Amino acid sequence: MDLANITQSWTYPTNIHFGCGLSSNLAHYCEEAEFHRPMIITDQKLIENSIITPCIDSLCNSKISFNIFTDFEENPTDKSVMEGLTVFQKNKNDGLVAIGGGSAIDLAKSVAFMDGQSQPIFNFEDRFDWWKKANKEKIRRVIAIPTTAGTGSEVGRAAVIKDTQDLKKKIIFHPQMMPFIAILDAKLTIGLPAHLTAATGVDALVHNLEALCSTGYHPIADGVAIEGLRLIKNNIEKAFQNGNDLNARCAMLVGSTMGAIAFQKGLGGVHALSHPIGSLFNSHHGLTNAVLLPYVIEYNLPEIHEPLSLVSKYLNLNSEKPKAIISWLLKLRDSLQIPHKLSSLGVNITHIPALTKMALNDQAAATNPRILNETAITSIYKSSINGILEL
Ligand SMILES: [Fe+2]
Repeated sequence: MDLANITQSWTYPTNIHFGCGLSSNLAHYCEEAEFHRPMIITDQKLIENSIITPCIDSLCNSKISFNIFTDFEENPTDKSVMEGLTVFQKNKNDGLVAIGGGSAIDLAKSVAFMDGQSQPIFNFEDRFDWWKKANKEKIRRVIAIPTTAGTGSEVGRAAVIKDTQDLKKKIIFHPQMMPFIAILDAKLTIGLPAHLTAATGVDALVHNLEALCSTGYHPIADGVAIEGLRLIKNNIEKAFQNGNDLNARCAMLVGSTMGAIAFQKGLGGVHALSHPIGSLFNSHHGLTNAVLLPYVIEYNLPEIHEPLSLVSKYLNLNSEKPKAIISWLLKLRDSLQIPHKLSSLGVNITHIPALTKMALNDQAAATNPRILNETAITSIYKSSINGILEL
């Protein structure tokens, strides 16, 4: 790579507060964000299971008034954003607190963004410099508190929103969609069921790995990604086997945040092929990624010898050969009880043409280390449905 001829802009994330129990100081963070009347976006289940009780108690013991919005789908849509925005404006809220997984955080970021816009949300899809059309003065602040270690949306400048017209998941981007404060309190992830710990954890793993292997020059992201991978490798099975292992939960939460910091560099084929399946089958994002992962790595192998050798060394895998990563991932998937074939998610070969068309247009395809054309995508889908790896 000819560094003398490269120009890049690197944006680094936001105020990140790490520590068990920190979310019980939510009122303090709301004051820091200058919120007097925030709207909390969270999942109904987190209220019912008392997971977010410390956050709510903190606000109840302060002068901050708040309302809670829980009425949204697992994959939030443009309709969810408009409904959330209506409630936000009706209550004269002045900021958002997102407590939950990627869906709650992405929705909060989108409501915060749309409060100041007069154009429809998909006019701000992450294409070219469409984000520059936004009225940046009126974007509201968000405090993000993740309850899963997966998406890393708490340190991301984008949100994934499903278009109810064409059923595609679209990325809405603006630099100011980055939450003002992220609170990493692993106590809130303790109640996450084992199957979701596995699926969201592999999503975080994929973020780190795809970022490391993606095209472009971003050594800062590469460094973050490789340490993120180490944290996840050393802790994902511990968190899966014993959900109460707070040390493992802490490390997973940091590994997940690091994945999202790293993927400012770009993602790749796993996400490009996974998004269409999530759109058409409403499948879990992390689980879909986890199934696709080895097939995409196998396709990319000719272009990623260098980063994979680095990973093999740093993670102390048995061999430094690039294929050692695939062997490790297959064993890991097995121990996390993740299926091997896409057919387990209801996908069959008749779905390939529609999925391929959508994957070709996915933003993540552009930064995959090996060119993803129609033939390549079709072939990866076929292998993933049938469970065929040429190891
Ligand atoms: Fe992801």
